[in-house]
Amino acid sequence: MFSPDRRSFLQQAGATGLACSADLLFGRFLSAQTRSSNPGEPSRIFLDSRRMIAPLDRNLFGSFLEHLGRAIHEGIYDPASKLSDSNGFRKDVIDEIKKLGVPIIRYPGGNFVSGYNWLDGVGPKQDRPRVLDKAWNSLESNQFGTNEFMTWCKAAGTEPLMGLNLGTGTPERAAALVEYCNVEKGTQWSDLRRKHGFAAPYNVRRWCLGNEMDGPWQIGHMTATEYGLKAQDAARQMRYVDSSVQLIACGSSGPFMPTYLEWDREVLEQCYDYVDGLSLHRYFGNTPDETGGSSEKYLALNLTMDRQIAETLAVCDLVRGHKRSSKKLWLSFDEWNVWYRERSGAAVNGNRQEAPHLLEEIYNLEDALLVGGLINTLLRNADRVKLACLAQLINVIAPIMTNPTGLFRQTIYYPYSWALQFARGNVLNVLVQSPTYEVSHVDPVSYLDAAGTLNPENGQTSLFILNRDLSKAREVEVVWEDNPGKQVLASWVLTGNDLKAVNSFDAPQRVQPQPLDKPSTGSGRTKFEVPARSYTVLQWSS
Ligand code: AHR
Repeated sequence: MFSPDRRSFLQQAGATGLACSADLLFGRFLSAQTRSSNPGEPSRIFLDSRRMIAPLDRNLFGSFLEHLGRAIHEGIYDPASKLSDSNGFRKDVIDEIKKLGVPIIRYPGGNFVSGYNWLDGVGPKQDRPRVLDKAWNSLESNQFGTNEFMTWCKAAGTEPLMGLNLGTGTPERAAALVEYCNVEKGTQWSDLRRKHGFAAPYNVRRWCLGNEMDGPWQIGHMTATEYGLKAQDAARQMRYVDSSVQLIACGSSGPFMPTYLEWDREVLEQCYDYVDGLSLHRYFGNTPDETGGSSEKYLALNLTMDRQIAETLAVCDLVRGHKRSSKKLWLSFDEWNVWYRERSGAAVNGNRQEAPHLLEEIYNLEDALLVGGLINTLLRNADRVKLACLAQLINVIAPIMTNPTGLFRQTIYYPYSWALQFARGNVLNVLVQSPTYEVSHVDPVSYLDAAGTLNPENGQTSLFILNRDLSKAREVEVVWEDNPGKQVLASWVLTGNDLKAVNSFDAPQRVQPQPLDKPSTGSGRTKFEVPARSYTVLQWSS
């Protein structure tokens, strides 16, 4: 079962790896695009449309829905609710997700997928078995399965990223699901789909070959070599069915793993030639082990995500060299978020109930600011990270929470929604010059962390700025090195006096964006102030 195993594993990691977490998780790492300046000087952000990282793949801001707690059942699917449509889909939730514009959603797990038999979730609903989900010790009714998810994705305007069971599941059964989803007709599994009432194939493009197979908590956990061979076999069989699929192998579950990077190397030695991407996962916490309760340190944790990406890419490219391969892998950061409160005991044990309240983390302002920083990190790694999933989307470590009468937006909703709304076109290689501060075991940390995009279609520039200074507003000067932005189209800031403030059903707007005074531009420079403890987005026309 997930809870005790993983908890004790993490505690063990805490006793060893996390005790030196400051070194292990931070190391000495400062973003390459950052230069320090004198404490009194204004911070400068240099923008140059010729200095570009990569075209932005919008799948960088995907999300995740697992059969876990109230994510699927009650969250997006609740046939008994007055708020649901004739499919049993919560209409208010669909509207919210459409408004957000989530491009891709990973499903059905997570740990859940490693014990999941997809055949339990297709066909006449009255014949589907109620089963024990061993990952979360919960009951799964299977009333929502593959076809319901595909129908829901269409309604929500998003693309599926399908997870496969490589724990208890076989490569043959994984390939059968590809056949069920993607072959038009005339084969065993495509005809079964048609018999179930779905004539048209779904053409699912992207697939995850298992989940966190390096973790001793994972059902079917195995060695890296065993997994690499299994992933290779699954990939070959899946491509025999549909050669157009894009496949993601399971990388390390995080830098706290004792097998971190070695796992990735050994897996890729087996399956490099057969896959397109490698996954990585990370949940950030504000525990005494991780930050000593220091908000200054907590808000710098996104720099450790930069580092994790760099290290994982180094391994991908090492194996590429060994194989003399012309192919370069991309990364799928397909689980990332803040998660540290609802992480053990009752919070992860479903007690053999259907739709139990699990992992219902309530996020505060400080968490939202770090999520903003993590979005900046993803943007500046957009040349190799082509897909990423905020884990998760509804009720379970999520930006959106539901109850029988409605929903509310958690604090982390806002930076995520800004990325979806304003990050467009090409990611700029933004140069930041900012004073720095010291935290133990970390290179000097820049007060400001910035990322930006420029959309070549309409010339709009967007800038995302985290101010890690907890006590002072910071003066910022944007230096336009070629084409200065003209009209300010949007300027919003997320800030507040209380870093621990949260939203709830009773106070859904306690933490929400406020308009920032629109700054003016002259002689190729734009000056403004970002408040203490804040995450800001600005957008200009060309
Ligand atoms: O997102 C919650 C869980 O975290 C997922 O099921 C698992 O993959 C990870 O450990």
